[in-house]
Amino acid sequence: MKVSVIGTGYVGLVTGACLAEMGNDVLCLDVDPNKIRILEEGGIPIHEPGLDAVVARNVKAGRLAFTTDIARSVAHGTLQFIAVGTPPDEDGSADLQYVLAAARNIGRLMSDYKVVVDKSTVPVGTADKVRAAIADELAQRGSDARFAVVSNPEFLKEGAAVDDFMRPDRIIVGAEDEQAILLMRALYAPFNRNHDKVHVMDVRSAELTKYAANAMLATRISFMNELALLAEKMGADIEQVRQGIGSDPRIGYHFLYAGCGYGGSCFPKDVKALIQTAAQNGQQLKVLQAVEDANDAQKLVLVDKIVRRFGEDLSGKRFAVWGLAFKPNTDDMREATSRVVLAELFKRGASVTAYDPVAMDEARRIFGDEPRLTYADSPSGALDGADALVIVTEWKEFRSPDFERIKASLKTPVVFDGRNLYEPSLVQSFGLDYQAIGRGAAA
Ligand code: NAD
Ligand code: UDX
Repeated sequence: MKVSVIGTGYVGLVTGACLAEMGNDVLCLDVDPNKIRILEEGGIPIHEPGLDAVVARNVKAGRLAFTTDIARSVAHGTLQFIAVGTPPDEDGSADLQYVLAAARNIGRLMSDYKVVVDKSTVPVGTADKVRAAIADELAQRGSDARFAVVSNPEFLKEGAAVDDFMRPDRIIVGAEDEQAILLMRALYAPFNRNHDKVHVMDVRSAELTKYAANAMLATRISFMNELALLAEKMGADIEQVRQGIGSDPRIGYHFLYAGCGYGGSCFPKDVKALIQTAAQNGQQLKVLQAVEDANDAQKLVLVDKIVRRFGEDLSGKRFAVWGLAFKPNTDDMREATSRVVLAELFKRGASVTAYDPVAMDEARRIFGDEPRLTYADSPSGALDGADALVIVTEWKEFRSPDFERIKASLKTPVVFDGRNLYEPSLVQSFGLDYQAIGRGAAA
């Protein structure tokens, strides 16, 4: 099938590459000429494991190409995927300007039947706005070209995006147009293994399904984070509690890890947007508001522990920080807890030597020439002469460190672990004070 993907970011590039992998003829459009130049030169503008090989293979096979030419992109695909950003507006609601600009481009330039697929995460009712924008453009030039709008939200996780896309739990298709449903079923047929993964439903339910999924997952995390704080007060261990409740199949083990708060480009933004959608429709989502408030507080938990240990004035202190990305296997720092931790440490006069396997370029872009921030080229390099170690992201390479080296390098033998990487008794056996999240009585 001929597919155009509008927006070549995390979702658009993965969608385009994986649909090409299934034999489709895919053209990816972006308004950012720099991104398209990198892709045309054989590079990948983001860090996403396995994506480079899929892109390279399909470009070579002639099934995947990149362009900044909007007219070419509109002419190319019967299926037009919109995968542009939907960042939060000032009040937290989703900013639809990029989605609607993409829709208008399609309406302005299309001449034959198009299925316009909303892949971006968009509030309930957006498909109607997309339909209206396209219809308006068609009316302005007196065109009677037919089109359908479909909601097909994406559930991939960064760091595992290719695998998630190639092996989806489910494929949500919100559509009313019969021909569009047939085309979507045909497009996704190669992804069905053992059973049909495609759930066809009405458009509004599909739009809400995406927010419901992310809101539910964020709720689990905030709930566990609050319990972890209680566990510290009561001398209980949240890790044992996690295993104790996760074994109940109604609860399950996934997304029950307490930590220093959830970040990323989706959970914080989508929780806010759903709260706003409800508010605009006269409903207060009390549970979700609490989820957000708890997460804002959780991002400060590591700093609270540091202040309890070293005092409010941290001037002259230098902290080793392991991990800057919002989670492992990505260079994405959108809404990352590290940003809050670093800002709070700087505010109190401390400096930081940070190490992250892939996100240090992104950190340089975000923090610019911040004089209190330096970078190390290895985890151990960050430790030398630091006052304490602070772990913010659970990269695999942090999981079995040389604890003797940590003890010998730090001025104060204390590890603040925001991701509960180690067995407390093991760390303590090296003479280190181990301050994790919810793992027994807090110091
Ligand atoms: P991104 O910021 O990485 O990429 C968006 C791209 O769209 C950018 O490259 C931008 O230049 C381009 N763009 C903007 N306007 C355009 C236009 N009119 N025409 C062509 N290109 C245009 O965003 P992302 O992380 O890929 O997210 C995209 C959408 O998918 C969002 O709605 C997000 O909520 C959703 N989503 C993201 C993830 C994720 O893990 N990142 C997962 C599921 C869903
Ligand atoms: C999320 C959703 O999982 C995905 O389905 C959706 O399409 C996009 O949003 P992503 O943001 O890439 O994916 O990462 P995810 O693995 O969900 O982690 C989000 C945040 O939650 C990270 O900061 C992570 O550290 C945190 N997290 C996750 C926890 O604190 N505890 C957990 O148990 C799981």
